[in-house]
Amino acid sequence: MIDSSERNLILKISQEITDISDIDSKRNLSRNVRLPAQNTVPPASMEGSTIETCHPSIRLGHVSASAISAARFTCFWPGASRRIRRENIDMIKRIAAGELRIGMFVHDLNCSWVDHPFLFNRVRITSARDLERLLQTGVTHVYIDTTLGADSQPGNERESIEREISIAMNEAGSRGASLLPNRPLGEELQRARNIHRETQALILQLFGDARLGKAPDLERIEPLVERIGLSLAANAGALLMLTRMKDADQYTFQHSVAVGLLLMRFASAAGYGADEVARIGIGGLVHDIGKMFTPDSILNKPGRLTPAEFDLIKRHPGDGHQLLSKARGVQQEQLDITRQHHERMDGRGYPDSRTASEIPAVARMAAIVDVYDALTSDRCYHRGIPPTLALRRLVEWSGEHFDTELVHRFVQCIGIYPTGTVVELVSGRIAIVTDQTASALLAPKLLAVYDSKKRRTLVPTEISPDGSGQLPDLILGVTVGSKWGITPEDFL
Ligand SMILES: [Fe+2]
Repeated sequence: MIDSSERNLILKISQEITDISDIDSKRNLSRNVRLPAQNTVPPASMEGSTIETCHPSIRLGHVSASAISAARFTCFWPGASRRIRRENIDMIKRIAAGELRIGMFVHDLNCSWVDHPFLFNRVRITSARDLERLLQTGVTHVYIDTTLGADSQPGNERESIEREISIAMNEAGSRGASLLPNRPLGEELQRARNIHRETQALILQLFGDARLGKAPDLERIEPLVERIGLSLAANAGALLMLTRMKDADQYTFQHSVAVGLLLMRFASAAGYGADEVARIGIGGLVHDIGKMFTPDSILNKPGRLTPAEFDLIKRHPGDGHQLLSKARGVQQEQLDITRQHHERMDGRGYPDSRTASEIPAVARMAAIVDVYDALTSDRCYHRGIPPTLALRRLVEWSGEHFDTELVHRFVQCIGIYPTGTVVELVSGRIAIVTDQTASALLAPKLLAVYDSKKRRTLVPTEISPDGSGQLPDLILGVTVGSKWGITPEDFL
């Protein structure tokens, strides 16, 4: 029988495994897991023992405490008889962009698609021109696949980097639970739907005016922003879940709404006062208004952008800033967010190539939110990734692209498993995150809706991810609903 402190420790270990398994969930049959010291001082009763976890199919063994007070565990995963060939992840290496050569296969450009003109993040370098264009994007590090192209020495294997990201995610998570909802999701959802619909309609209108060269009437947004604040305080999961539903032809408007709402959530979690949160939120809602001067054929081009086209895209922060500066009652935060949301900490952003301390905090926050929403959104040429994986990419890119401290705060306020996320459980069930709990970052409320082993839908069943309920289970990793024919909103 395990006590509560041991169970909490096991949950943290399971989370570590889960995060690693995001990229290779089929092969983590046995591995050593090492967690940071503050998370993992093992209870004395566990040292040297072999224990069962709260789920019968995971067993932890050989628990020991090292001299630096971090624990090492060997984890035995179920299904050893189905041992699956190691994927060639060991052949994925992270190298400095300066080491790229013709003949290499770029597995991942290691930056958001909003920051480069290529159609895909994967590209084979076949000519000096390819190489030159790639370097012009300003990427500093990329992943190469040495099984599909030339190798490079030295390089860091992706697996070790993923482990570092997991540790950083868990550290961010352990420093504070996300803001807890004070109203159940089901009760807040209808109000959130109304607010979301009205906000989209207003932004569509203001952006339409901008196309005609008319500065936005920001005072019209203020009453809505007040209602958004109330809904976010009641249950942020409701509005934020709705922001992930986008139509391909409405992307620019819906992305702007998403950034506004996420930024309000982020700002209030970061300690800004209500008035500041409202001003920042308005800045987020109009941050891309300059795109109304970019031709639709370029904004929605389902293909690789030419350098000239990408240069046109890069004009939108400046164009937006210019238009907004004519708006009555515009605030400095709104101008900063609009002009500087594509600036990056290392100075490789645009339009002014500012570096870390030169970029106001609100713009550094907007940059994080902007990329998070872009990564999680479907486009005609780009499939959105689950929120949890998007947060991992932000953690990976922090320092060079984003303010590390702010990325960690963002992880805390969004939660590692935001409401509406689809997760795969150890039992093989597919579940939807329906709400957050006191230990939100690791153990949200779940609703199991599908059995991936038997390939059949389930009567929706609430389950406890912390092993304390009637049907305990553990999160194995995130997945996408479309893979299982699941639309999360249908169950919330
Ligand atoms: Fe933008």
